[in-house]
Amino acid sequence: MSAIQLKGISKAFGGNLVVHPTDLQVESSELVTLLGPSGSGKSTLLSMIAGLLTPTSGQIFIEGRDVTNVPPAKRNLGMVFQNYALFPHMTVFDNVAFPLSIRKLGKKDIDYKVKRALEMVRLDGLGDRKQSQLSGGQQQRVALARALVFEPEILLLDEPLGALDKKLREEVQLELRQLQRDLGVTTILVTHDQEEALSLSTRVVVLNAGQVQQIATPEGAYRDPENKFVAEFIGIANLWHGKVTEENDSTYIKLPCGERLMCRPNKVLSGEAHLLVRPEHLEVHEQKEAKGLNATVTEVVYLGQTTRVHMRTEAGLSIVATTTGGRLLVEGQAVRVSWKPENACLVPA
Ligand SMILES: Nc1ncnc2c1ncn2[C@@H]1O[C@H](COP(=O)(O)OP(=O)(O)O)[C@@H](O)[C@H]1O
Ligand SMILES: [Mg+2]
Repeated sequence: MSAIQLKGISKAFGGNLVVHPTDLQVESSELVTLLGPSGSGKSTLLSMIAGLLTPTSGQIFIEGRDVTNVPPAKRNLGMVFQNYALFPHMTVFDNVAFPLSIRKLGKKDIDYKVKRALEMVRLDGLGDRKQSQLSGGQQQRVALARALVFEPEILLLDEPLGALDKKLREEVQLELRQLQRDLGVTTILVTHDQEEALSLSTRVVVLNAGQVQQIATPEGAYRDPENKFVAEFIGIANLWHGKVTEENDSTYIKLPCGERLMCRPNKVLSGEAHLLVRPEHLEVHEQKEAKGLNATVTEVVYLGQTTRVHMRTEAGLSIVATTTGGRLLVEGQAVRVSWKPENACLVPA
């Protein structure tokens, strides 16, 4: 039995279908991310799981129980949203105690559980503070403690780290992942940040325009995207359109310019397709080396740890590579670009 199961869940607003019928199974202790651009339907889907929105069609099961018509408070869910306002007049302690108070727990129980929840998010000792005396990261951790204090079966997070700056966000991401693993709480996280999705999730659900594009592990979505949208949304992609050809048990894609490029064998695809190679899998050589595509360096962008090299072939194909070596390439330089066939996959046209 899955922790969460969606069967044909959809949502329309005034005749406008913003979430197309969606099936999804989330297993116990998983952290599944809903990943997609702004407006792709992530929050709408999460709100239906939370019970804050009623689906236009379909059913939602939690631990095998049909909760489609069960109100939010009876679904045993913890929730944290972006800019989730704490009660500003209340102390940290009282904010975290709130879900327990409305469940009418006794004072001793509340004291114990709040203390433990604050320890979990490393805020022990700050129980007397008010919101104005906390940093952004601390406020988000209070919201997390409040969502976890009543030991929900499921945690729903809608861009909970969106308001934090990059460094703090990365810190809280690590804490969140550790906490989620320690507690084993089944979690659905909404984000538009692909790095956040890849680094935190057991699986990602990639959404575009209200439609699921792919459900896969982070590695699966990055290495084997099912379509062009996923390839481009997750990471930087070199995508070259051509015709699939098979020769001597090897698979190639033939570009309109006549160039034939080797790729990982694919038994399913034929005809028109894209070849996908990630920038870090490209090797940029001096011109005289024999293999690969001829190209000219058009731009070199220094990024500290890596350098991004933009190139163009004579036929006008753009190429972007990420290099880590110290060897400097210069604009206008003639180079050859190559890759291992196993790092080049076919993506349906
Ligand atoms: N209450 C609503 N009424 C009408 N349209 C809505 C409502 N809520 C969301 N939408 C629309 O549904 C689409 C998906 O929104 P949302 O789920 O918030 O996207 P995301 O969270 O991925 O940014 C958007 O086009 C949005 O404008
Ligand atoms: Mg949203």
